Parts: sequence; structure tokens; C-alpha cells
Amino acid sequence: MSGTRQIQPVFALLNKARDRVGKIKHKIMVLSGKGGVGKSFISSMLALALAEKGYKVSILDADIHGSSIPTILGLHGMRHFADEEGILPVEGPLGVQVVAINLMLDSPDAPVVWRGPLKSRAITELLAKVKWPEGDFLVIDLPPGTGDEAITVVQTIRDLSGAVIVTAPNMLSELIVSKAINFVVKNNVKLLGIVENMSYFKCPGSDVEYNLLGRSTGEELAKKYQTKLLARIPLDPLIGRALEEGVPYLLAYPEGEAAKAIRSLAEEILRIVQS
Ligand SMILES: Nc1ncnc2c1ncn2[C@@H]1O[C@H](COP(=O)(O)OP(=O)(O)OP(=O)(O)O)[C@@H](O)[C@H]1O
Ligand SMILES: [Mg+2]
Repeated sequence: MSGTRQIQPVFALLNKARDRVGKIKHKIMVLSGKGGVGKSFISSMLALALAEKGYKVSILDADIHGSSIPTILGLHGMRHFADEEGILPVEGPLGVQVVAINLMLDSPDAPVVWRGPLKSRAITELLAKVKWPEGDFLVIDLPPGTGDEAITVVQTIRDLSGAVIVTAPNMLSELIVSKAINFVVKNNVKLLGIVENMSYFKCPGSDVEYNLLGRSTGEELAKKYQTKLLARIPLDPLIGRALEEGVPYLLAYPEGEAAKAIRSLAEEILRIVQS
């Protein structure tokens, strides 16, 4: 009967996780079939754009190996603390509550060398042991692909409001989108739509769009998969500058081309989850 004894704590943990995140109304996962398309940037900026509108927002960095949300949000040198009820999120800009493995490490550049089952367990533990505040939104940033982390999130949080798929215009975009969409559909998660990041570039003062990474296919992809193109986010060199300055882009450059697109993405998501 030792098997029963081992299984029980996992169920208890899952139930605790469901109970704790149950206090948050809308839970949104951000994923892509591919790396480097801007998932973490979009998750962080979406969280800030929703917080700007007065919503109470939390963000979970579910990328165990490549945790980058703390850096994007400018949380340098900050750490999680715990009290008798659990791990306390770190308060980020505009009151966004941030939970990330990197905020628990002795040094943010220490590598996390966990294999699949440990990564899954770590995500469930984070969901269960963090004292998530009551709130309107939980944005979940995932690592590239549809592996352990994404599976754990969909299996643990059964009442996800939906998934946002991030892509970028290049030859692989269709493959990226179809993998991510198949994952979402197979797991009975609502597909909120597609975000085409790095979609185009406009020179300052000009309205001409240059497709630096390739033809923009967001609209076609959305049609093909019967979903919405939620936003086309332009390439903006100020995003890199904000990172260097250690200030979140949306706050550092609120008038930036991409900042405007991110705010309209937040409005689009609000329309969908509130309809
Ligand atoms: N629209 C954009 N314009 C300019 N730079 C961007 C844009 N979007 C993201 N970036 C930059 O591209 C890089 C990759 O972005 P990000 O880390 O968010 O991608 P990711 O999909 O989360 O990557 P990973 O798959 O490794 O988790 C970062 O340096 C980010 O600042
Ligand atoms: Mg990322």
C-alpha cells in the first residue's frame, strides 16, 4: 500500500494548487511552439497593461530553465519571502504580483538543472504553495514548446480562461502556430487568439511598415485556425533599450509603437474574457 501513500500527497498538492489559484478570476497561459518569439515580453507587458487599467494582476514565470520575467519587469535583487501560510509573491511595478524560480535562487544566473518530473512538480508546488492574492488575472508565461511545463499548467489549472499563442512572421510560423493550437485544443483550453510579435517595423515619423522578419501572416493564420488575430506587435528598438535600463518597456516608453499595440492587446483580451 506504499503506492497509495505516495499518490495521496500529489492529489493533496493539486487540490491545494486549484484552491489557491481559484481566487483569481481569469487565468491566461501564453505559449508558442517556438523559442524567442517574445512570449515573456508579451506576458509581462500584458500583465502591466491590465494593471494600468486598474486590474489586480499576478504573473507566474513557468519557464524553469529560462526564467526571464523578473529581468523584463526590472526586479533586480528582489527575492521571495515566505510566512507561515506560504510563499509571498514579489510585488512588481503597478502592483503586479510576480512569482518566478529566479526570485528564489541565490544568484539569478545559477542554472536550474531539473528534469521533466521535477520541473512539473516545481510548477505544481509554486501554484500550491504561493499565497496568491485574490485578483482579476493570472498571466502564465511558458517556456518554448508544449512540454512538461505547459502540460502541468493545463492539468493543474482546470479553469483556465484560455491561451494566447505568440508567433512571429517567418517561414516557420505556421508550424509554430499549428503545434501550439493543437496542444491547446487537445487539452480543452479555450483559444483566445494569436499575437503576431515582431510583425513589422516603422521608422520614426513614418507610417510605412517594413516586414523585416518576413511577410506578416497573422491574419491568414488566424483565419485558417478559426481564431482571432489579437494583435500585431511591431519591432521596437526601445524594447532592448528598456531592458538595458532595467525598466519595463511599457512604463519607460509608454508612447512606443509596441506599447500602443500591447494596450490594444489587453483591451482585446478584456473584451473576450468579459463577454
Ligand atoms: N516586438 C519586439 N521588438 C523588439 N524586440 C523584441 C520584441 N519582442 C521581444 N523582443 C526581444 O526579443 C527577445 C526575445 O523575447 P522573449 O524573451 O520575450 O522571447 P520568448 O519567446 O519568451 O523566448 P524563450 O522562448 O527563450 O522563452 C528579447 O530580447 C526581447 O526583449
Ligand atoms: Mg520566455
